[in-house]
Amino acid sequence: MLNITTEEQTRIRELYQRVLSVSAQSEFLVSGNPVQPSKLSPEQLDEMWREHRDNMASVVEGNLTSGMKRVAIAGAGRCDSFHLADLLTLANERGVEQIDLIDLNIDALKTALEAAQAKLPGSSLSVANGVSVLHVSPSCNCRAIGCDLTFMLPQLLDDLESDLAADLSTRVANGRDVSSAMAESTSDIIRRSLDGRKIIECDQRYDLVISDCLITQINSFFGVTAVAKWLPILRSNPAADLNLAIVVHEGMLTLDHLQTLFRLAKDDGRIVFVSDVIRIVGDQTPRPRFINRGVDASAILRSLRPDLTIEHLYPTWQWNRSQNETENVSAASLTNQRQDGV
Ligand SMILES: C[S@@+](CC[C@H](N)C(=O)[O-])C[C@H]1O[C@@H](n2cnc3c(N)ncnc32)[C@H](O)[C@@H]1O
Repeated sequence: MLNITTEEQTRIRELYQRVLSVSAQSEFLVSGNPVQPSKLSPEQLDEMWREHRDNMASVVEGNLTSGMKRVAIAGAGRCDSFHLADLLTLANERGVEQIDLIDLNIDALKTALEAAQAKLPGSSLSVANGVSVLHVSPSCNCRAIGCDLTFMLPQLLDDLESDLAADLSTRVANGRDVSSAMAESTSDIIRRSLDGRKIIECDQRYDLVISDCLITQINSFFGVTAVAKWLPILRSNPAADLNLAIVVHEGMLTLDHLQTLFRLAKDDGRIVFVSDVIRIVGDQTPRPRFINRGVDASAILRSLRPDLTIEHLYPTWQWNRSQNETENVSAASLTNQRQDGV
């Protein structure tokens, strides 16, 4: 399980606040970023998210098999995309002992635990070492873990603020075209942040790790239009020219996320990768290759690790995320295929 101390929980809360404030100032996080509270009422959520929730429920149910003891949901947020109380009831029935909800937004996780507690008779909440725990039954707990699953956000935010604009300007002044300069600058910054980070290791890894539409958020630091808005140097260039940059670092970050999932799961553990990366019906914004083509979760993963064996690919479903945003969601399940040295 991820071992997170009280101090780390506090640091993650501060980091999350910083992500929000940098996002508000610089607009380089894409709009519609669900790190922010949903503007939908509970009734609207029930209605509009029904298809997404039902599909998530059947994906989770199908993968949560008897004998599993530890389960992690990465990017759980406020648990709006699944019925947490139902999931915990099922987990308890199937003998799961520990469910860890992991997200940068620790307050959203705590709200989700409180809502689930109200629906689960006999359950109770406590705080152990600064971490909120919902006791579902004497043998089943659910924890709210604040964690940056890229392990690099502080460095990345620093470098974006201090280095990106200057780095790009220098490259363009030296004769690079803007697309190539963008690809090189952002890739350099990401690589530096990845290289310099300290990864929190798991002391007991999980039988099942579900990544719940987290990858779009991780990649959203570099949304095409948002970056173009943020950096004056890019304003005169059509966003399509930036495809190269986006493909380069989305690939890098998606592969890194996959490796994180493998790191969290036991050697024979199961991973479910759910992605809304194939997105937005009617949105004309240029997207990287695989997004524009509407390719599914298995193709995204296999474009990054061609050797992967995908066990199950679920039929794509639609997620009516807000009044004007409908995304296609794709899910794939696989057994851990961690490589040496990762
Ligand atoms: C699209 S939401 C998933 C929906 C969520 N499961 C729900 O039901 O509301 C993605 C989640 O990823 C979280 N997130 C974004 N970047 C993250 C990071 N670096 N580490 C951990 N969580 C992150 C966000 O806070 C958000 O809750």
